[in-house]
Amino acid sequence: MDYDKDANKILLVDDNPKNLQVAMNILKDFNVIYSTSGENALSLVEENDFDLILLDIVMPNMSGYEVCEKLKANEKTKEIPIIFLTVKDEEKDIIEGLDKGAVDYLTKPFYPQVLLKRVQLHLKLASSLKKLKDMNEHLNEIIDKKVEEITKKENIIVRQSKLATMGEMIGNIAHQWRQPLSSITTVSSGILLKKDFDKLTDDDIISGMNMINSSAKYLSQTIDDFKSFYDPKRNKFKNIDISETIDKSLKLVKAQFSAKEIILVKNLENIKITSLENELIQVLINLLNNARDEVIKLKTKRLILINSYKQDDSFNIEIIDNAGGIKEELHKKIFDAYFTTKEEKGTGIGLYMSKEIMQKLLDGDIKVENSTYKFENEEFTGAKFTLKLPLIF
Ligand SMILES: Nc1ncnc2c1ncn2[C@@H]1O[C@H](COP(=O)(O)OP(=O)(O)O)[C@@H](O)[C@H]1O
Ligand SMILES: [Mg+2]
Repeated sequence: MDYDKDANKILLVDDNPKNLQVAMNILKDFNVIYSTSGENALSLVEENDFDLILLDIVMPNMSGYEVCEKLKANEKTKEIPIIFLTVKDEEKDIIEGLDKGAVDYLTKPFYPQVLLKRVQLHLKLASSLKKLKDMNEHLNEIIDKKVEEITKKENIIVRQSKLATMGEMIGNIAHQWRQPLSSITTVSSGILLKKDFDKLTDDDIISGMNMINSSAKYLSQTIDDFKSFYDPKRNKFKNIDISETIDKSLKLVKAQFSAKEIILVKNLENIKITSLENELIQVLINLLNNARDEVIKLKTKRLILINSYKQDDSFNIEIIDNAGGIKEELHKKIFDAYFTTKEEKGTGIGLYMSKEIMQKLLDGDIKVENSTYKFENEEFTGAKFTLKLPLIF
């Protein structure tokens, strides 16, 4: 039950003591205060908070109708449900009572069970109404709070994802720098050694310095590549050349791919689309790194295929690996924030962010399926991620 017999206060108004007694008896389990006149009833409602009023219509001095009108006109009491108690059972009286704002009426003499059930019903209705009103009033507050909570959570995920990508990037820079840095140390210590043995020629110096120079240029080029990827000013919709964007993504990750003997196969239909290049690069890097994480477990051929093609009014980019694919029941889960099967090595944010970027920023979509395909007459199975980008003509 939604009402509380002790807490719910009922005002019973009737000029006839016998009627009062009968009703009080039926409602003995409720917290009932009675009154024998309209005037007295009006002063009682000022001092108490009633949840329901049972009001006789025919009373000397002030009729129930008058009391009802006064109650409905008063801010404090206008919401209290009123049930008229009446010997009149003509239709027009009932309608007049309801028109005055009563919620119900009961004709005397009442059947005890009917009175009881109506009282219970109206107390319950009134309490539900009150709850609804309270909820309504607090709804905006609740919504604001929830929105704030969600935004906070989103911001944390976005920041974590940036950090995760940044971590990957630093790993990649380290990889890309290893080779030129070791060339520089080899060349410079070679020159010093030759000098010690008095064997240093002008040619040694020139070719050595050229080597150091080109290595240093390469180092600074890689930094530029990474920097432009993080440049917030570049976060603008512009015409981009898809195969260039794919090449830029590959450049940012390729050091770790060639070191792991991963075969990258591109099959690109080129096209210009309007999009956010850095965001698209972020998604591609996420997918390429995920594919890398899986194929490096293979003892055999490690394969990543990148296809791009136009289809109806969208442009699709596929990243396919040969690591066996993803269990069907995980296809939905992998896009959840923090879902990872890589234990402490994974963040579980990559695919979540990729989906957010594809759907909310690039007006596209991302989906996954397992694919079995032939490459150089051999059959392979792996995960196939498809990015769908809108083509605007
Ligand atoms: N190409 C893939 N092959 C198999 N499983 C994959 C592939 N890409 C993603 N997954 C699965 O999806 C999970 C979530 O990926 P992601 O959101 O990038 O987070 P993380 O890489 O940090 O685990 C991975 O842990 C992995 O289980
Ligand atoms: Mg990942």
